[in-house]
Amino acid sequence: MAVARKIRGFMERGSWIRRMFEDGIALKERYGAENVYDLSLGNPEMEPPPEFARELGRLAADPTPGLHRYMPNAGYAETRAAVAAQLASETGLGFTGEHALMTCGAGGALNVVMKTLLDPGDEVVVFAPYFVEYVFYADNHGGVCRTVPPAEGFLPDFDALEETIGPRTRIVLVSSPGNPTGVVYSAGVLSRIGDAIRRKESELGVEIWLVSDEPYRRILFDGAEYPHIFGHHSRSIAATSHSKDLALPGERIGFAAVNPGCEDAGEVMDGLTFCNRTLGFVNAPALMQRVVKELQGVTVDVSAYQAKRDFLYDALRDIGYQVVKPGGAFYMFPKSPIEDDVAFVGELRSHRVLVVPGSGFGTPGHFRISYCVSDATLEGSIEGFRKAFESAA
Ligand SMILES: Cc1ncc(COP(=O)(O)O)c(C=O)c1O
Repeated sequence: MAVARKIRGFMERGSWIRRMFEDGIALKERYGAENVYDLSLGNPEMEPPPEFARELGRLAADPTPGLHRYMPNAGYAETRAAVAAQLASETGLGFTGEHALMTCGAGGALNVVMKTLLDPGDEVVVFAPYFVEYVFYADNHGGVCRTVPPAEGFLPDFDALEETIGPRTRIVLVSSPGNPTGVVYSAGVLSRIGDAIRRKESELGVEIWLVSDEPYRRILFDGAEYPHIFGHHSRSIAATSHSKDLALPGERIGFAAVNPGCEDAGEVMDGLTFCNRTLGFVNAPALMQRVVKELQGVTVDVSAYQAKRDFLYDALRDIGYQVVKPGGAFYMFPKSPIEDDVAFVGELRSHRVLVVPGSGFGTPGHFRISYCVSDATLEGSIEGFRKAFESAA
């Protein structure tokens, strides 16, 4: 066996989305793409905003030499300054370029953050249902995830949070709007998480970081403003990307931002910069750094996602599904009408609707719908959702 035992186990555990992806290809070959409703992937069908092509064209024509060379491992100073200026205007805090590190997406940022903060055996507290990659990212750096079960509406169970934080906890990882639920943590929720962290820090004599994985932070509905984490714990870091808000997931561009109010911010930035280099990322892609420098105020058309959310939520509720209304992102996480979510996902598949079982997100009994697809795909899926629900009744 060429692949290590641990990785073989992880591959099995993390294989749901890949399996659905492969299933989708086979079904599309058999029935024709227009007759398969693939709602299994968080890969937006939406194109980047027009400003992206304009900026890319301008940069491609720029004759300045050296634009494709290595740069400081934290990224171009101008890009870091632009990111910081945007964060300062959103939060009112004193962000400068010295608090931002350009990364290969939020996934790259999270790996750099965990590498910097975790010693072997340290724990990362995550809230179920969670993005399964967290388990693998923590393991990459000798860490282990500990899970907090959800309370009503997929909000945190605060008592369980305090029970889960222990002497080896180094990171409490939040993600809002979340994948797979689309649930947004309000400032009130974040404040209670910050309070719980500080209580446990003084009880256990440890230092805990509040880390926010927030690639969906700009895909917020109903005119909501994004509740940033920084006011709720001084030891805090946001990891984000432009994969979703500029629809650029293949371009691998994001950043990590350290709270300027944290007394260890400088030391942590040095650690992040070192780890960006030594994990082999070296630096975030040069061209994309220069593009996103100009696009900090630009976002995809969020109203299109909101319209899809409204359509799908109303349609599922009409059929009889129980579902928490998402406040952002482009996912929904309905309750499976039968306990066995894997079996129900199989039933949906027999109606050519592809979704991912909740088991893949540490929360069985549910399934995830990704609705970053065309209106035709979404509308076409409703009949399958209805038939599968009726057959489960
Ligand atoms: C919750 C969450 N975190 C992180 C990522 C990784 O995104 P990126 O493309 O920025 O690495 C994703 C991607 O789907 C995600 O859903």
